[in-house]
Amino acid sequence: MRACSVRRRIEERQVTDSNCRAPDLCLFGITLRCSMLIRSEQPDEADAIDALIRRAFAPTQFSHPREAEIVRALRRDGALTLSLVAVDERVVVGHVAFSLVTSDGVHDEWFGLGPISVCPERQRQGIGRMLVLAGLAALEARAANGCAVIGNPAIYSRFGFTSDGRLQYADIPERFVQHVVFRGPPPSGTLEFARAFAA
Ligand SMILES: CC(C)(COP(=O)(O)OP(=O)(O)OC[C@H]1O[C@@H](n2cnc3c(N)ncnc32)[C@H](O)[C@@H]1OP(=O)(O)O)[C@@H](O)C(=O)NCCC(=O)NCCS
Repeated sequence: MRACSVRRRIEERQVTDSNCRAPDLCLFGITLRCSMLIRSEQPDEADAIDALIRRAFAPTQFSHPREAEIVRALRRDGALTLSLVAVDERVVVGHVAFSLVTSDGVHDEWFGLGPISVCPERQRQGIGRMLVLAGLAALEARAANGCAVIGNPAIYSRFGFTSDGRLQYADIPERFVQHVVFRGPPPSGTLEFARAFAA
Protein backbone atom coordinates (compact mmCIF):
# COMPACT_ATOMS: atom_id res chain seq x y z
CA MET A 1 0.00 0.00 0.00
CA ARG A 2 1.34 3.41 -0.94
CA ALA A 3 1.39 6.44 1.29
CA CYS A 4 -1.58 8.07 -0.40
CA SER A 5 -3.79 5.06 0.13
CA VAL A 6 -2.85 4.87 3.81
CA ARG A 7 -3.71 8.56 4.07
CA ARG A 8 -7.00 8.08 2.28
CA ARG A 9 -8.05 5.24 4.56
CA ILE A 10 -7.08 7.31 7.60
CA GLU A 11 -9.12 10.25 6.37
CA GLU A 12 -12.07 7.98 5.79
CA ARG A 13 -12.02 7.26 9.48
CA GLN A 14 -11.53 10.88 10.50
CA VAL A 15 -8.17 10.00 12.00
CA THR A 16 -5.63 12.77 12.35
CA ASP A 17 -2.08 11.98 13.41
CA SER A 18 -2.03 9.92 16.64
CA ASN A 19 -4.99 11.61 18.31
CA CYS A 20 -8.36 10.74 16.87
CA ARG A 21 -11.91 10.05 17.89
CA ALA A 22 -14.05 7.40 16.24
CA PRO A 23 -16.79 8.91 14.11
CA ASP A 24 -20.28 8.99 15.58
CA LEU A 25 -22.72 6.42 14.24
CA CYS A 26 -26.00 7.56 12.68
CA LEU A 27 -28.77 4.94 12.71
CA PHE A 28 -32.37 5.65 11.74
CA GLY A 29 -31.74 9.37 12.24
CA ILE A 30 -30.40 8.86 15.78
CA THR A 31 -26.76 9.82 16.36
CA LEU A 32 -24.90 7.52 18.72
CA ARG A 33 -21.95 9.34 20.23
CA CYS A 34 -18.81 7.20 20.03
CA SER A 35 -16.52 7.82 22.97
CA MET A 36 -13.55 5.88 21.57
CA LEU A 37 -10.34 7.90 21.43
CA ILE A 38 -6.99 6.88 19.95
CA ARG A 39 -4.09 8.83 21.44
CA SER A 40 -0.52 8.47 22.67
CA GLU A 41 -0.06 6.71 26.01
CA GLN A 42 0.16 8.90 29.10
CA PRO A 43 2.94 8.50 31.69
CA ASP A 44 0.53 6.97 34.26
CA GLU A 45 -0.88 4.33 31.90
CA ALA A 46 1.97 1.79 31.94
CA ASP A 47 0.21 -0.57 34.39
CA ALA A 48 -3.11 -0.43 32.54
CA ILE A 49 -1.32 -1.20 29.26
CA ASP A 50 0.57 -4.05 30.91
CA ALA A 51 -2.65 -5.59 32.24
CA LEU A 52 -4.38 -5.17 28.88
CA ILE A 53 -1.57 -6.92 26.97
CA ARG A 54 -1.56 -9.84 29.42
CA ARG A 55 -5.34 -10.27 29.09
CA ALA A 56 -5.34 -9.95 25.30
CA PHE A 57 -2.54 -12.46 24.76
CA ALA A 58 -3.59 -14.95 27.46
CA PRO A 59 -5.88 -17.00 25.16
CA THR A 60 -3.35 -16.98 22.27
CA GLN A 61 -0.43 -19.20 21.34
CA PHE A 62 1.93 -16.33 22.18
CA SER A 63 3.59 -15.96 25.56
CA HIS A 64 1.61 -13.16 27.22
CA PRO A 65 4.02 -12.16 30.00
CA ARG A 66 6.68 -11.77 27.33
CA GLU A 67 4.63 -9.45 25.12
CA ALA A 68 3.92 -7.20 28.11
CA GLU A 69 7.57 -7.28 29.10
CA ILE A 70 8.64 -6.27 25.60
CA VAL A 71 6.57 -3.09 25.87
CA ARG A 72 7.97 -2.36 29.34
CA ALA A 73 11.52 -2.94 28.06
CA LEU A 74 10.94 -0.71 25.01
CA ARG A 75 9.67 2.04 27.30
CA ARG A 76 12.58 1.60 29.70
CA ASP A 77 15.12 1.68 26.84
CA GLY A 78 13.56 4.83 25.37
CA ALA A 79 12.86 2.76 22.25
CA LEU A 80 9.08 3.14 22.19
CA THR A 81 8.83 5.33 19.11
CA LEU A 82 5.06 5.40 19.26
CA SER A 83 2.72 3.91 21.86
CA LEU A 84 -0.96 4.40 21.10
CA VAL A 85 -3.90 3.50 23.29
CA ALA A 86 -7.58 3.12 22.44
CA VAL A 87 -9.51 4.61 25.32
CA ASP A 88 -13.24 4.18 25.85
CA GLU A 89 -14.90 5.88 28.81
CA ARG A 90 -11.41 6.41 30.26
CA VAL A 91 -10.64 2.67 30.11
CA VAL A 92 -7.69 1.50 28.02
CA VAL A 93 -9.20 -1.14 25.70
CA GLY A 94 -6.44 -1.35 23.10
CA HIS A 95 -2.75 -0.67 22.62
CA VAL A 96 -0.13 -0.78 19.88
CA ALA A 97 3.61 -0.20 20.02
CA PHE A 98 5.92 0.90 17.21
CA SER A 99 9.71 0.87 17.44
CA LEU A 100 12.71 1.26 15.21
CA VAL A 101 13.86 -1.70 13.07
CA THR A 102 16.87 -2.37 10.90
CA SER A 103 17.39 -4.44 7.77
CA ASP A 104 20.86 -5.93 7.34
CA GLY A 105 21.90 -3.79 10.32
CA VAL A 106 20.88 -0.48 8.75
CA HIS A 107 18.10 1.76 10.03
CA ASP A 108 16.47 3.47 7.07
CA GLU A 109 13.51 5.13 8.80
CA TRP A 110 11.65 1.85 8.97
CA PHE A 111 9.65 0.92 12.06
CA GLY A 112 8.16 -2.26 13.44
CA LEU A 113 4.58 -2.70 14.58
CA GLY A 114 3.96 -4.68 17.75
CA PRO A 115 2.90 -5.90 20.10
CA ILE A 116 -0.74 -4.99 19.44
CA SER A 117 -3.57 -5.92 21.74
CA VAL A 118 -7.28 -5.32 22.14
CA CYS A 119 -9.04 -6.51 25.29
CA PRO A 120 -10.82 -9.83 24.61
CA GLU A 121 -14.39 -8.55 25.05
CA ARG A 122 -13.80 -5.71 22.55
CA GLN A 123 -12.07 -7.67 19.77
CA ARG A 124 -13.49 -7.77 16.21
CA GLN A 125 -15.07 -4.33 16.65
CA GLY A 126 -12.57 -2.38 14.57
CA ILE A 127 -10.36 -1.16 17.44
CA GLY A 128 -7.25 -2.95 16.17
CA ARG A 129 -7.80 -1.42 12.74
CA MET A 130 -8.09 2.09 14.19
CA LEU A 131 -4.89 1.61 16.22
CA VAL A 132 -2.92 0.35 13.21
CA LEU A 133 -4.18 3.02 10.81
CA ALA A 134 -3.58 5.82 13.34
CA GLY A 135 -0.08 4.46 14.00
CA LEU A 136 0.78 4.23 10.30
CA ALA A 137 -0.48 7.78 9.74
CA ALA A 138 1.61 9.07 12.65
CA LEU A 139 4.74 7.28 11.37
CA GLU A 140 4.20 8.61 7.89
CA ALA A 141 3.80 12.11 9.30
CA ARG A 142 7.22 11.65 10.94
CA ALA A 143 8.75 10.93 7.53
CA ALA A 144 9.10 7.19 8.09
CA ASN A 145 9.74 5.14 4.97
CA GLY A 146 7.56 2.26 6.07
CA CYS A 147 6.55 -0.24 8.69
CA ALA A 148 7.21 -3.97 9.13
CA VAL A 149 5.32 -6.55 11.15
CA ILE A 150 5.63 -10.22 11.99
CA GLY A 151 2.20 -11.75 12.33
CA ASN A 152 -0.88 -13.42 10.94
CA PRO A 153 -1.36 -12.32 7.29
CA ALA A 154 -5.11 -12.90 7.68
CA ILE A 155 -5.10 -9.92 10.04
CA TYR A 156 -2.32 -7.66 8.73
CA SER A 157 -3.16 -7.95 5.03
CA ARG A 158 -6.42 -6.21 5.93
CA PHE A 159 -4.35 -3.26 7.16
CA GLY A 160 -2.39 -3.04 3.89
CA PHE A 161 0.66 -5.16 4.86
CA THR A 162 2.13 -7.44 2.20
CA SER A 163 4.98 -9.89 1.92
CA ASP A 164 7.33 -10.23 -1.06
CA GLY A 165 9.89 -12.59 0.42
CA ARG A 166 12.74 -10.05 0.28
CA LEU A 167 12.67 -9.37 4.01
CA GLN A 168 13.63 -12.22 6.32
CA TYR A 169 13.19 -12.66 10.04
CA ALA A 170 14.92 -15.58 11.77
CA ASP A 171 13.32 -18.82 10.54
CA ILE A 172 9.82 -17.36 10.24
CA PRO A 173 8.07 -18.29 6.95
CA GLU A 174 8.11 -15.36 4.54
CA ARG A 175 4.32 -14.82 4.47
CA PHE A 176 4.45 -13.81 8.13
CA VAL A 177 7.16 -11.18 7.49
CA GLN A 178 5.15 -8.28 6.13
CA HIS A 179 5.59 -4.60 5.42
CA VAL A 180 3.85 -1.47 4.20
CA VAL A 181 5.81 1.11 2.17
CA PHE A 182 5.19 4.85 2.62
CA ARG A 183 7.96 6.02 0.31
CA GLY A 184 11.09 4.64 -1.33
CA PRO A 185 11.86 1.00 -2.18
CA PRO A 186 10.50 -1.99 -0.26
CA PRO A 187 12.85 -3.33 2.41
CA SER A 188 15.09 -6.34 1.89
CA GLY A 189 17.55 -8.36 3.93
CA THR A 190 17.44 -9.52 7.52
CA LEU A 191 14.96 -7.69 9.71
CA GLU A 192 15.90 -6.90 13.29
CA PHE A 193 13.75 -5.43 16.01
CA ALA A 194 14.87 -3.38 19.01
CA ARG A 195 16.89 -5.08 21.77
CA ALA A 196 13.76 -5.29 23.97
CA PHE A 197 12.37 -8.03 21.72
CA ALA A 198 15.27 -10.30 22.58
CA ALA A 199 14.76 -9.94 26.34
C1 LIG B 1 -5.16 -9.07 16.72
C2 LIG B 1 -6.01 -7.98 17.39
C3 LIG B 1 -5.13 -6.85 17.86
C4 LIG B 1 -6.99 -7.45 16.33
O1 LIG B 1 -7.74 -6.39 16.92
P1 LIG B 1 -9.31 -6.29 16.67
O2 LIG B 1 -9.80 -5.04 17.26
O3 LIG B 1 -9.94 -7.56 17.13
O4 LIG B 1 -9.34 -6.24 15.07
P2 LIG B 1 -10.40 -5.48 14.16
O5 LIG B 1 -11.78 -5.70 14.72
O6 LIG B 1 -9.96 -4.08 13.96
O7 LIG B 1 -10.27 -6.31 12.82
C5 LIG B 1 -9.48 -5.85 11.76
C6 LIG B 1 -9.49 -6.87 10.67
O8 LIG B 1 -8.75 -8.02 11.06
C7 LIG B 1 -9.58 -9.18 11.03
N1 LIG B 1 -9.24 -10.01 12.18
C8 LIG B 1 -9.20 -9.62 13.46
N2 LIG B 1 -8.81 -10.66 14.24
C9 LIG B 1 -8.61 -11.71 13.40
C10 LIG B 1 -8.19 -13.05 13.60
N3 LIG B 1 -7.91 -13.55 14.81
N4 LIG B 1 -8.08 -13.85 12.50
C11 LIG B 1 -8.36 -13.38 11.26
N5 LIG B 1 -8.75 -12.09 11.01
C12 LIG B 1 -8.88 -11.30 12.08
C13 LIG B 1 -11.00 -8.67 11.11
O9 LIG B 1 -11.89 -9.57 10.48
C14 LIG B 1 -10.92 -7.35 10.38
O10 LIG B 1 -10.99 -7.50 8.99
P3 LIG B 1 -12.26 -6.95 8.17
O11 LIG B 1 -12.38 -5.50 8.54
O12 LIG B 1 -11.88 -7.19 6.75
O13 LIG B 1 -13.40 -7.77 8.66
C15 LIG B 1 -6.83 -8.55 18.57
O14 LIG B 1 -7.65 -9.59 18.11
C16 LIG B 1 -5.98 -9.06 19.71
O15 LIG B 1 -5.65 -8.32 20.63
N6 LIG B 1 -5.63 -10.37 19.72
C17 LIG B 1 -4.85 -10.95 20.80
C18 LIG B 1 -3.41 -10.50 20.75
C19 LIG B 1 -2.78 -10.81 19.40
O16 LIG B 1 -2.95 -11.91 18.85
N7 LIG B 1 -2.04 -9.81 18.85
C20 LIG B 1 -1.45 -9.93 17.54
C21 LIG B 1 -0.27 -10.84 17.53
S1 LIG B 1 0.30 -11.04 15.84
